[in-house]
Amino acid sequence: MNYLKGKKILLGITGGIAAYKSCELVRLLIKKEATVNVVMTENAKKFITPLTCQTLSQNPVIESTFDTMHGAEIKHITLPDEADAFVVAPATANFIGKLASGIADDFLSTIALAYTRPILIAPAMNVHMYENKIVQRNIKTLKDYGHIIIEPASGYLACGYEGKGRMEEPARILERIEYFLAPKDFSGIKAIVTAGPTREHIDPVRYISNPSTGKMGYALARKLAMRGARVVLISGPSTIEPPYGVELVRVTSAEEMMKKTEENLDDTAIFIGAAAVADFRPEKPVSQKMKKEKKEKKLTLTLVKTPDIISEVAKKLKDGIIVGFAAETENLMKNATEKMKKKGLDMIFANDLTAAGSGFGTETNSGYLINRDGTVKKFEIQSKEDLADQLLDEIIPELKKKLSR
Ligand code: C5P
Repeated sequence: MNYLKGKKILLGITGGIAAYKSCELVRLLIKKEATVNVVMTENAKKFITPLTCQTLSQNPVIESTFDTMHGAEIKHITLPDEADAFVVAPATANFIGKLASGIADDFLSTIALAYTRPILIAPAMNVHMYENKIVQRNIKTLKDYGHIIIEPASGYLACGYEGKGRMEEPARILERIEYFLAPKDFSGIKAIVTAGPTREHIDPVRYISNPSTGKMGYALARKLAMRGARVVLISGPSTIEPPYGVELVRVTSAEEMMKKTEENLDDTAIFIGAAAVADFRPEKPVSQKMKKEKKEKKLTLTLVKTPDIISEVAKKLKDGIIVGFAAETENLMKNATEKMKKKGLDMIFANDLTAAGSGFGTETNSGYLINRDGTVKKFEIQSKEDLADQLLDEIIPELKKKLSR
């Protein structure tokens, strides 16, 4: 689900060089079908023009308190009242200081005081300014009053210094806004998601694996966290950036994935096995790189079975919901149903690897969710993010049913 669709986002831009990145944030919000109202401070206009923001947001930009005196509407009251989320990005030390002290000497600081809910604030400044104890005290004050600070990242700063102070990337700010707006129907629930491939080493530089990227599992973990769950994401090697608010545990092999799953199992209510776990591993991995200068033309590898993680979880987790994935190339429904029964799962997502746009590495997926009670629901091809939301919509009533028994 697109949590931003039709939502009103009030975006304050203050006078820091990171203001140029906020143009990208506006673009991302519009792409997600949000309505964006931009408010710029006097100093912000020295870095980017109101015309840029107006063109990107498709809405007039408010530059001063007196812009709002037209008509009967009192904008400094209606704008914050109507906003679904209020974001200030970049937030300068000056803006943060003013808000922490209750100063309202321009339009943005005025609406910030008129706003009754948490504001998402993305600080951006030079590292020495950011580390200044007064700025840190002001940030703490804002946090104590319930505002949400989107921590700046570390790295090269526009002023030439290295360190913490660089505004978080627009895509990550967008993720935080989505997080803020998402329904919290999974709050109080702990979930474990396994994702990605596993690697079973033959020697230190060679391994057996599969083309899984982890996209489906990461999307499920992200959506679970956005919807309020406490999420442990146990991931095999993947290049995807960890979703915000998720506890990421990185593993390499199936055995390690099993061990970390067991270590995290306490209080788990939902287990989703989206990882493409290798079923076999070399029996005796060698400790040094194998040489090819041998007389024999053949190399025989003896493989032994890896633990079936989801089956082990199903034996232990009697009060939880266990959801598996069946990636198949033939007899999809039959194989998936048998797998669900054999492994003791509550639900299994039957994933046809031969269907266009489905399976490993793709941005999209389609398939069937099979329930233990025999019901089947079809999911048309869609983004893995949207599919994740829809699968969660099916999981939550099942969990409630199980817990009420
Ligand atoms: O048996 P198969 O690998 O086809 O089953 C797929 C499902 O089982 C997926 O949910 C996968 O994450 C899980 N699985 C597991 N541990 C294994 C193999 C598969 O948890 N060793």
